[in-house]
Amino acid sequence: MVVIFGTLRIVLLCSLSGITLATKNPLLARDDACTALEAVLLGDVAYPNTTSYLQSANYWSIQQLETRPRCFVAPKSTKEVSTILRVLTQGNWPFTVKGGGHVPFSGGSSIENGVTIDLVHLNDIEVSHDRQTVSVSPGNRWINVTDILDPIGLAVVGGRDMDVGVSGLTLGGGISFFSGQYGWACDNVRRYEVVLASGRIVYASPQENNDLYWALRGGGGLNFGIVTRFDLVAFDQGEIWESSLSFPGTSNASAISLFQNLTIHGLPLDKGASGFVGINYHSSSGGYTTDIGLLHATVPSSSESIPAVFEPFQKISSATANSTVTGTVSTFIKNGATPYGRRWTWGNVVISASFPGEFLTEIMILFESRNVALLQNEGGDDIAPTALFQPIPLNVLQAMQKNGGNAMGLKPSNGPLIMISFPTSWTKAQNDEIVYDATRKLITDIEAKAKEYKVYTPFVYLNYADIKQEVQKGYGKENYARLVSIARKYDPQGKLAQLWKGYFKLDR
Ligand SMILES: Cc1cc2nc3c(=O)[nH]c(=O)nc-3n(C[C@H](O)[C@H](O)[C@H](O)COP(=O)(O)OP(=O)(O)OC[C@H]3O[C@@H](n4cnc5c(N)ncnc54)[C@H](O)[C@@H]3O)c2cc1C
Ligand SMILES: *[C@@H]1O[C@H](CO)[C@@H](O)[C@H](O)[C@H]1NC(C)=O
Ligand SMILES: *[C@@H]1O[C@H](CO)[C@@H](O)[C@H](O)[C@H]1NC(C)=O
Ligand SMILES: *[C@@H]1O[C@H](CO)[C@@H](O)[C@H](O)[C@H]1NC(C)=O
Ligand SMILES: *[C@@H]1O[C@H](CO)[C@@H](O)[C@H](O)[C@H]1NC(C)=O
Ligand SMILES: *[C@@H]1O[C@H](CO)[C@@H](O)[C@H](O)[C@H]1NC(C)=O
Repeated sequence: MVVIFGTLRIVLLCSLSGITLATKNPLLARDDACTALEAVLLGDVAYPNTTSYLQSANYWSIQQLETRPRCFVAPKSTKEVSTILRVLTQGNWPFTVKGGGHVPFSGGSSIENGVTIDLVHLNDIEVSHDRQTVSVSPGNRWINVTDILDPIGLAVVGGRDMDVGVSGLTLGGGISFFSGQYGWACDNVRRYEVVLASGRIVYASPQENNDLYWALRGGGGLNFGIVTRFDLVAFDQGEIWESSLSFPGTSNASAISLFQNLTIHGLPLDKGASGFVGINYHSSSGGYTTDIGLLHATVPSSSESIPAVFEPFQKISSATANSTVTGTVSTFIKNGATPYGRRWTWGNVVISASFPGEFLTEIMILFESRNVALLQNEGGDDIAPTALFQPIPLNVLQAMQKNGGNAMGLKPSNGPLIMISFPTSWTKAQNDEIVYDATRKLITDIEAKAKEYKVYTPFVYLNYADIKQEVQKGYGKENYARLVSIARKYDPQGKLAQLWKGYFKLDR
């Protein structure tokens, strides 16, 4: 360790000497960020091959796991986050921040050769006496929250996979089982505690720094600061319910046409309802399945009954799987978890929910032909492509207008909408570029089709976006300009823009 670190120091002294000489602060007259942090933190800085480094290097996708920081630093308090950010921004050292580590892209919450701030030790969860608010620190995953809330009959608008981080999901939007009633996760944050680039700790709510409060709801957290506490709206909640149906791939058109009707007419009538349709390729069978999840926030009174809005789906013929499940939110998010250990990418297109059947036929052809080309060139890999349809119905768009609206710029007049995302996983690094290129081309082709059929919207959902998609520009010119001015206000020197690597940044 010591020897290896010694060689690193020499390399660093060469590459960073300009910066080192420019600093007057003796604290920062160190040869690299990690030693500077070590000096102020007394521990909690982890170097490669140590137990704590390996514990922090725990990411969902392999690409993120392969990106190796020079050190992880794991603060134990907001004050330590403040100290760390001050040291890094004063020393001009590149860094990134890790919440639950579920961004697929290399560099999303990991950084080659820099500092990764791992929020894992910021793990408080506190329920207010009046049961209206749950204060969650950013190192928690959703399972940690539901494990506390289920037994006391409360829930928050949160993720649908146990290991996804509270931080990333909430900052990027956050589609939940409960979105039909309350909007996305970001619409249900009462207050944020934020550490700014300077190290100053501020609060953002409708009453305090309300410009920052608006920006943090979808604007891309890394442009503004590190959130060290989310005060989330809590509500009474019991068990939830799902009907899971599978059909052959050839049922895609009938399933999606019912899903369009559900999005446009059904969901606004029954706000407890939500759902998705996935068209999934399986290398084991060499074919596709159409998989439908129909969820409800309340359990039907009798075990056989199906909520009326979901009835039409029960009439699709030749189901290959058909089951209903009732359980706690924890049970659902555990069962729904997507395993770690593969390479991943995705991207998404959001369109008007009333697209014509021919549009679907055309994009399904684009999806299939892209997959055929990929599967021909995979060389013994196991590439698994999906087209995932999720609703953004009017009731969700209405709920997004709460508290002055969020930064994403969607209005009821834009909707109802359907988001189609294209998650793909594979195993061999040599296929990275072909999968990235094919996915990007698919997105571009589908955007072009959407324009042709007049169902296009510029909105892209941050949490399922490809790193090359210009997410915030899709929020509209006015919102984009507002985000840039808020970023300038809270980080006048542009330190976060310069030093916080990865993910969806504003040009500034
Ligand atoms: C299996 C799976 C299931 C998913 N399910 C859903 C779902 O049901 N609904 C949905 O909407 N999305 C879902 N997503 C998408 C998910 O919301 C995003 O991947 C999200 O970014 C993950 O958050 P994280 O904290 O785990 O990620 P991380 O990779 O740790 O962080 C994401 C980004 O946020 C930044 N960041 C992290 N913490 C902070 C902080 N405290 N302050 C400021 N910036 C911070 C990071 O630097 C990074 O840029 C899912 C993703 C996966 C992989
Ligand atoms: C970590 O361990 C691996 C194998 O055990 C070794 O190849 C690598 O050089 C080590 N890296 C550091 C930075 O110590
Ligand atoms: C969060 O939940 C996971 C899985 O149950 C557990 O391993 C981890 O320790 C929990 N974290 C905290 C802070 O409780
Ligand atoms: C979608 O359905 C159409 C019509 O049944 C079929 O031709 C096409 O192959 C299906 N697509 C997939 C991916 O299964
Ligand atoms: C469309 O949805 C409405 C509202 O749920 C329902 O009454 C109607 O039967 C549905 N139509 C079809 C074709 O499924
Ligand atoms: C699923 O099973 C239920 C109960 O047996 C039945 O009423 C329903 O029609 C089935 N749905 C499908 C799509 O086959």
